[in-house]
Amino acid sequence: MRQLDFTTLKKAISDPRPKIRAAAMRISEPLLKNQAGLLNELLMHVNDAAPEVQLQLALTLGELQDPRAEEAMAQIARQNAADLYLRDAVITGLGGRELEFLEHLLDDKSLGHRKTGCETLLGALAQCVLTEAKADRVNRLLDLAVNRPAGKEWQRLALLDGILSTAPPDAKGKVKFKPVRLNAEPAALAALSQCEAKEVQERAKKIDALVTWPGKPGAGPEVAVKPLSPEEQKRFDQGKELYLISCGACHQPHGMGQEGLAPPLVDSDWVLGTPQRLVRIVLHGLHGPINVKGKTFQLDMPALAVFDDDQIASLLTYVRREWGHTAGPVEPGSVKSIRAETEKREEAWSEAELLKIQ
Ligand code: HEC
Repeated sequence: MRQLDFTTLKKAISDPRPKIRAAAMRISEPLLKNQAGLLNELLMHVNDAAPEVQLQLALTLGELQDPRAEEAMAQIARQNAADLYLRDAVITGLGGRELEFLEHLLDDKSLGHRKTGCETLLGALAQCVLTEAKADRVNRLLDLAVNRPAGKEWQRLALLDGILSTAPPDAKGKVKFKPVRLNAEPAALAALSQCEAKEVQERAKKIDALVTWPGKPGAGPEVAVKPLSPEEQKRFDQGKELYLISCGACHQPHGMGQEGLAPPLVDSDWVLGTPQRLVRIVLHGLHGPINVKGKTFQLDMPALAVFDDDQIASLLTYVRREWGHTAGPVEPGSVKSIRAETEKREEAWSEAELLKIQ
């Protein structure tokens, strides 16, 4: 049976009709982990002439954690940097590996000349890394920006602009952003602010407001965050994995959401506020207009009550502590009692209903 699947799929992946090729790639996903030969077939289509096939290929390869798949995704990304859908497909597939991917892309000599869309691609990846808000990774990103070789200054500017796009100024020119906490003053930022190029200096000055470190002049006092207990940490780790395969499909691995699909979770009051509302959103879904960080969304989130109490506690502990969040963890016991309290409910919640719950 497996043998038959493989032969049929292999043929379909090279079918003259793009629709069949793309469908075959998608169907091949569950088999890819055990069938090295199938990956070879897929990789032959990195230069496929049909955009829909390249798009599917990027999505399919994103499912794999394989260096060859990553190399192919880098190639697809470079070739199609100007194509918004393809760029998004590649970035979605990366799910937390954006920094490594960025390092990989920048290592590539063929990224030497400026090409349409490449700046946006680099910028979008840099934005993901800043959103992750992990000290060591933000430092590595700043180092990457500093260490661009001569003649590739456009890459430096693209990275810096990507970082800045994480916190766009509002209509009054004010930036609302919770600075990323670094362990110490980043040498890379100091180097950038002393750079000869005016445009780099200006950007470095703005980026300075997006990061903080102990003892930074003018920074407020450090707020003590209660560390997770070993048990809570275990839930966080489990929640991270669950998040990527469930919530991440809509809210995106970087938590910033996606236009027309789902609002951001990063810095959302719904995530950081009372777990009473948060647990209800997951149990029964959400319907109609909802205000998230000053923007109204009118979409639908499905109920995800299929997850058990422990899984929901893990997922929510994760979203409340990832991306620089410092909200308290969620206990399976709280999920259990909210589930019991709302047992009779079938319809999704509206914003007005949730706001009544404290
Ligand atoms: C099928 C897509 C989808 C999935 C999967 C999904 N969400 Fe949502 N989520 C949405 C949409 C759409 C909204 C906004 C609904 C509206 O406009 O009323 C939303 C809203 C939210 C909100 C409130 C608004 C905000 O952005 O803070 C939270 C919190 C939330 N989701 C958490 C989660 C968590 C946690 C998971 C995983 C357990 C998850 N969602 C899975 C689509 C999804």
